[in-house]
Amino acid sequence: MITEADVLKALSNVDDPDFGKDIVTLNMVKDVKVEGKQVSFTVELTTPACPMKDMIHKACVNAVKIFIDKEAEVNVTMTARVLGARSADGSDVLPHVKNIIAVGSGKGGVGKSTVATNLAIALAKEGAKVGLMDADIYGPSAPLMFGVQGERPMMRDVDGKGYIEPIERFGVKMMSIGLLVDEKQAVIWRGPMATSALKQFVTDVYWGELDYLIIDLPPGTGDIHLTLVQTIPITGAVIVTTPQNIAMADAKKAMMMFKNANISVPILGVVENMAYFTPAELPENKYYIFGKDGGKSLAEQFEVPFLGEVPLVQSIREGADRGFPAVLNDEPISLNAFTEIAKKVARNVAMRNANLDPTKVMTIGV
Ligand SMILES: Nc1ncnc2c1ncn2[C@@H]1O[C@H](COP(=O)(O)OP(=O)(O)OP(=O)(O)O)[C@@H](O)[C@H]1O
Ligand SMILES: [Mg+2]
Repeated sequence: MITEADVLKALSNVDDPDFGKDIVTLNMVKDVKVEGKQVSFTVELTTPACPMKDMIHKACVNAVKIFIDKEAEVNVTMTARVLGARSADGSDVLPHVKNIIAVGSGKGGVGKSTVATNLAIALAKEGAKVGLMDADIYGPSAPLMFGVQGERPMMRDVDGKGYIEPIERFGVKMMSIGLLVDEKQAVIWRGPMATSALKQFVTDVYWGELDYLIIDLPPGTGDIHLTLVQTIPITGAVIVTTPQNIAMADAKKAMMMFKNANISVPILGVVENMAYFTPAELPENKYYIFGKDGGKSLAEQFEVPFLGEVPLVQSIREGADRGFPAVLNDEPISLNAFTEIAKKVARNVAMRNANLDPTKVMTIGV
């Protein structure tokens, strides 16, 4: 006779390597049921994009067979509940958003928006509730990348207050200031107007419940960035760079900004974009146009995780321009790169939340 206690005991031999504890201690095992030799239970991961999902699944089946009965019929349901680390002091502007991930770089044109968009869609494809906020007031690119240029968002009334409803596309709730104002109008905004527009934009969008809100930052490390970190408790930052020295110098500035004692946003890792060029007809050939392994060495230097490299391929640029991001295509080169990065980001967010306090919103003046 197999009992539920036997099953839990067997499963206490399965570790979640990220947390260094077994899945029973971590309270990840739910709904254990036993009928004769049929054993079923649910394993609740900290993210649907868990890179170790298959490995943990296999280890659970093996544990029951090895420690209890090799003829047991094991049925494991893998689910996920994303946790957030948000402060409970009421200062939170987006209380229903569990994790806020800022994508920044310092340098312009290195592929922040491309990475942010594909990252958001990749996380949604894994089953997470995801939003993307395009915070680039002067050069919003999300409307083009999501193929919703010219669309106007709807309004929604919540408890007497009007909110802007994000546009839902590819499983992601997207909002861009480019959907609200005429581009020509935004370009002439001076600093204070831009920051106040952004503040309002942050608090007036109705995101609903989200596991991850990705923020596509504008280039640089200026006012807009300070406003954002003052207004929103950012869970962590993803830094995008190309391997070129000039891009890495700016990426360093961005990292210094996030690490600044008054800001203190943990860095989830570095993405090396345009890591090498690969022609579609010769996918085995790699040309290191901008240098090799720059992002990797930057990550090492700052002792932050390296999240992966994205090659320079024509289909990524085309996907962005025709409003159908590359991660939606089946072309393995970009699909794999972005999916792997998304999984690493999700994993690093879960680990960050387990190990660090919630990010505090900055209270000092600029
Ligand atoms: N890996 C890639 N392969 C091919 N093209 C790419 C890749 N990454 C980005 N691009 C292209 O490079 C251009 C700049 O990318 P993107 O707009 O994402 O950069 P950005 O850092 O957000 O720029 P900005 O600083 O203006 O916000 C776009 O045309 C985009 O399609
Ligand atoms: Mg951009």
